[in-house]
Amino acid sequence: MIKNSAIEIRPLAGALGAEIIGADLSNGPDDATFEQIFTALMDYGVLMIRDQDLTPEQQKAFCQRIGDPLPVPFVKTLDDHPEIIAIIKEADERTEMVFGGTWHADFSFLAAPPKASCLYARELPSHGGDTLFASMTKAYDNLSHGMQAMLQDMKVVHSGRRSYGPVGTFAKSQLDSIGVTASKEGDAEVLHPVVAVIPESGKRSLFINDIYAIRFENMTEEESAPLLKFLCEQARCPENLCRLDWQPGSLALWDNRTTMHYAVNDYDGQRREMHRVTIAGEPLQGIQ
Ligand code: SIN
Repeated sequence: MIKNSAIEIRPLAGALGAEIIGADLSNGPDDATFEQIFTALMDYGVLMIRDQDLTPEQQKAFCQRIGDPLPVPFVKTLDDHPEIIAIIKEADERTEMVFGGTWHADFSFLAAPPKASCLYARELPSHGGDTLFASMTKAYDNLSHGMQAMLQDMKVVHSGRRSYGPVGTFAKSQLDSIGVTASKEGDAEVLHPVVAVIPESGKRSLFINDIYAIRFENMTEEESAPLLKFLCEQARCPENLCRLDWQPGSLALWDNRTTMHYAVNDYDGQRREMHRVTIAGEPLQGIQ
């Protein structure tokens, strides 16, 4: 446990994740507390900040300290808050899929992928509905030197088409409560370095995920699939994960460039509502 004057930081697992106790985000926080939170975010990849009582304005104001809230494509936002999406599963919804129910980094198919995301619990099931996170910096560190050397100059194509394209999951899905509009724009492709260097920390992060990373540059999907599968599977081995358990008032904040995450769909019959602010990032740089 790491204690300081303002907040307590309790690591959650070996690879990533920490709980923050004693922060009040409703009025600020002050610069010193914000610095501690931001440093913890860079160190631990994902934070679970407990015991918050925030309006949508206060959630956005906190996020603004990190970067500009991003109006995200494809997903309907709150009427008065174009930067907040409501992720809802209704009590009577019975679907195999929930929003976020595949391993991903949020909107990694954008040319400037989001730097961070902030998810606030509005209504929770009595149990279940956790969110799993994987460390993509540890996933890179755990690779052999040979594999790291091979990946360091490679680029990877990301696309939203498996989710948001005309034949993607959401085009076919029954998840009306999320308000996704899949379209042709979902098929767009962008190129990112496979190994991204995080400007604030210098850490190297494997910038792939199961749903949006579709192939390596100058390779077909078939040729790319075995290596992408190997890299994603080793990234989500149990030792590389942490599990966020939600409690009333919990707010999660994650570095979207160094983690991927997965929403667990194990609470049929109960309503869950989360509000997400997605924070704008910069185009990613590879190893120079
Ligand atoms: C997301 O992928 O942003 C949603 C995660 C969750 O609902 O737990």
